[in-house]
Amino acid sequence: MTDARWQAVDDFLTRKLLPDDPTLAAVEQRAASAGLPPISVSAMEGSLLQILVRALRARRVLEIGTLGGYSGIWMARGLEPGGTLVTLEVDAHHAEVARGNFEQAGVADAVDLRVGPASESLAAMREAGETPFDLVFIDADKSGYPDYVTQSLALSRPGTLLVLDNMVRGGQVIDDGDDEWGIQGTRAALDVIAGEPRLVATTIQTVGIRGYDGFALALVTY
Ligand code: SAH
Ligand code: DHB
Ligand code: MG
Repeated sequence: MTDARWQAVDDFLTRKLLPDDPTLAAVEQRAASAGLPPISVSAMEGSLLQILVRALRARRVLEIGTLGGYSGIWMARGLEPGGTLVTLEVDAHHAEVARGNFEQAGVADAVDLRVGPASESLAAMREAGETPFDLVFIDADKSGYPDYVTQSLALSRPGTLLVLDNMVRGGQVIDDGDDEWGIQGTRAALDVIAGEPRLVATTIQTVGIRGYDGFALALVTY
């Protein structure tokens, strides 16, 4: 579902608020040339993620779903000096493209890219007793979302912010029928969030170059 005016407004706001960024333009170009699907966050959403990283003065950010590294670069650029982005990706080709993009963007030293199914990577991180994250961005396969929320909570501390992409998906979130796109995973993630007393959460509906969708914010309170 797309609307020409949503896209035009998104373009207008992006041109108004963001400086030209040849590095990010090249990152998008390389992802497209490598055959990656055009499903990264938009520039306005990337900017939002970076604002959250900076507002939290985050040193440790976890991303689930790297793709070509576009959202990761936005977040890595907002880290406190010496901070780290851990980003999880199951697809070896996506990971290879992302690795090149992190290098080109000059953030490779701050990025720890782990290739494998996110559920397994998260379990390994818990097993290893990794330091809790300041912010977690969940943006991988939608069927995995309930598990990603649960496992992210185990890698959190009071004050950790969870951000979930694609929580509305053209309004499908209210459909309890078919699961062509994995919306049942999205819905189950909402159930996990709603049933977790440690989380206070919201979901904001959005329109723009990626159509009609939304993101959830869930704050770990204790
Ligand atoms: N965050 C990216 C977009 C991610 S698209 C950006 O905005 O730039 C979703 C990514 O999740 C894809 O690269 C896909 O390969 C990956 N993915 C799908 N299933 C996964 C899984 N089980 N574990 C880890 N990554 C997965
Ligand atoms: C799809 C996945 C995403 O993470 C996204 O932001 C947009 C679309 C998809 O699988 O179609
Ligand atoms: Mg997404």
